[in-house]
Amino acid sequence: MEASIKPTILVSGATGQLGKTFQHFASQWKQYDWVFCQRNDFPLDRPQEIAKTLARIHPAYCINAAAFTQVDAAETDPELAQRLNGDAVAQLVQFCNEQNSTLIHFSTDYVFDGQQSHPYTEEDTPKPINAYGKSKLSGEQAVLNHAHKGYVIRTSWLYAKAFGKNFYRTILQKAKAGEPLQVVDDQIGTPTSTDTLVAAVMEMIQTPWPYGLYHVADEEVHSWYSFAQKILQEEGMTAQIQPTSTPTGATPRPRFSALGTTKKST
Ligand SMILES: NC(=O)c1ccc[n+]([C@@H]2O[C@H](COP(=O)([O-])OP(=O)(O)OC[C@H]3O[C@@H](n4cnc5c(N)ncnc54)[C@H](OP(=O)(O)O)[C@@H]3O)[C@@H](O)[C@H]2O)c1
Repeated sequence: MEASIKPTILVSGATGQLGKTFQHFASQWKQYDWVFCQRNDFPLDRPQEIAKTLARIHPAYCINAAAFTQVDAAETDPELAQRLNGDAVAQLVQFCNEQNSTLIHFSTDYVFDGQQSHPYTEEDTPKPINAYGKSKLSGEQAVLNHAHKGYVIRTSWLYAKAFGKNFYRTILQKAKAGEPLQVVDDQIGTPTSTDTLVAAVMEMIQTPWPYGLYHVADEEVHSWYSFAQKILQEEGMTAQIQPTSTPTGATPRPRFSALGTTKKST
């Protein structure tokens, strides 16, 4: 009897919050073989090692959840951000083309300047105002312009309730520790659960959606302050939260970067 050959899905960035969420849910999709790669097998700073990993695993789908995600650190070392989020992605596109793999790559609401007051769609022109956003825009353009089979999913204010270091978990930890909570009220966006993102990616693969650019985000629009209030309410906790303004001299972040998501559902 011939062994059945399942398509392989490779997920990079397996130690990150999105990578861990894929691992958590992978058993729901047993029709695929799943391979999770950490930094050793998928080093963005040594793309030739990524080429070797892809040649060895030969994935039908490469879900790239690895990225340099520290917005403030990107501002102090923009060349590093560009190398990891831009140049390495351009090379990844080439490797995926060579392997005939479908590349699924993630980008961010921070490619927008935040001057709009209604949700950004895939048609709106990106104009990043910080180094992280610029480097992510470079990566998404590499995929959209050169991948033979490629998706870019822009998402925003990502959090996993169970994994990683993120706003959701930080607010809860501080509230539990009785620490004072001061949260900015002048940045507006669409907080998005990694669960939502994983479900959308799997729908995209299985449908499949046409290759291209998609926004995937949860529906509610919040400031960080109102999101903090929601988190405490959701977890049945009470704590005082003081709304504040973005401090002068902070890394520039879009004032408004909610993502409109109608394209993915049409
Ligand atoms: N977090 C957000 O609010 C947000 C918002 C919009 C879009 N996104 C995008 O969503 C995607 C997933 O983000 P996330 O929040 O899950 O990120 P994360 O939790 O910060 O995880 C990042 C992953 O990338 C890996 N990584 C970092 N530098 C690397 C390098 N030089 N070589 C190889 N791997 C490296 C990390 O590995 P180590 O554990 O070894 O460091 C980790 O596994 C990213 O493309 C991000 O830009 C995130």
